[in-house]
Amino acid sequence: MVRKPFIAGNWKMNMDLQSSIDLASGIAHGLGASEACEVAVCPPSVYLAAVVKAVAGNPVGVGAQNCYFERDGAFTGELSASMVSNIGCQYVILGHSERRSIFGESDADVNKKVFAALEAGLTPIVCVGELLEEREAGRTLDVIRTQFEGSLAGLSSDQMQHCVIAYEPVWAIGTGKVATPDQAEEVHASIRGLLTSSFDQATAESVRIQYGGSVKPDNASELLSQPNIDGALVGGASLKTDSFLAIVKAAN
Ligand code: PGA
Repeated sequence: MVRKPFIAGNWKMNMDLQSSIDLASGIAHGLGASEACEVAVCPPSVYLAAVVKAVAGNPVGVGAQNCYFERDGAFTGELSASMVSNIGCQYVILGHSERRSIFGESDADVNKKVFAALEAGLTPIVCVGELLEEREAGRTLDVIRTQFEGSLAGLSSDQMQHCVIAYEPVWAIGTGKVATPDQAEEVHASIRGLLTSSFDQATAESVRIQYGGSVKPDNASELLSQPNIDGALVGGASLKTDSFLAIVKAAN
């Protein structure tokens, strides 16, 4: 089974309206007609509709960086998965380490959001990753297993196949300290093993596992050439057309 590489840009809380439109259209126009990889951008939620419009007709998907798990109601400040889908998005990032550490999201919260996103027809990009002290204590694979089991609990194989997993070691996010290809591949292979044991072989072979954490044009191809690394979730380097397109090129 050949997994189509998937490169997504996580813009976090950056950009303004015009620079969002310019970046999105720059990426859309810079892509070749037949890219071998899937590409998406995830701007701040207030710019989602404008970015959807800016990339219309081009092979660039758009995703939100978060959503709430309830469908509607008195949840001031929140966005539902169906709202994100309704304005033309295809993806939503869930359980990013900044959501977990700054906003206190638990695996159980992420799990409810995954179901809400799937119900709304979105592809969830579910993030997992260990802290530096957890890696140094030799607990990386245990931490990943706990996050995997909690965040993806109760999904059918079919639902799992509609998700993307992003492995993002927290110590590598925004730090310039990228995981070595071997360090990343070890965790990706173990996530693939969890997919086999919790679901089945076919599911394990079809789910894309992105790497995230200081991915740049100069380290992307080595990471992406690892057998279990199927793409990248890119933060800082996704804010410039050239560097994002160079990473897409490395995946092709
Ligand atoms: P970074 O962020 O590429 O800036 O390290 C990645 C992420 O947080 O998704």
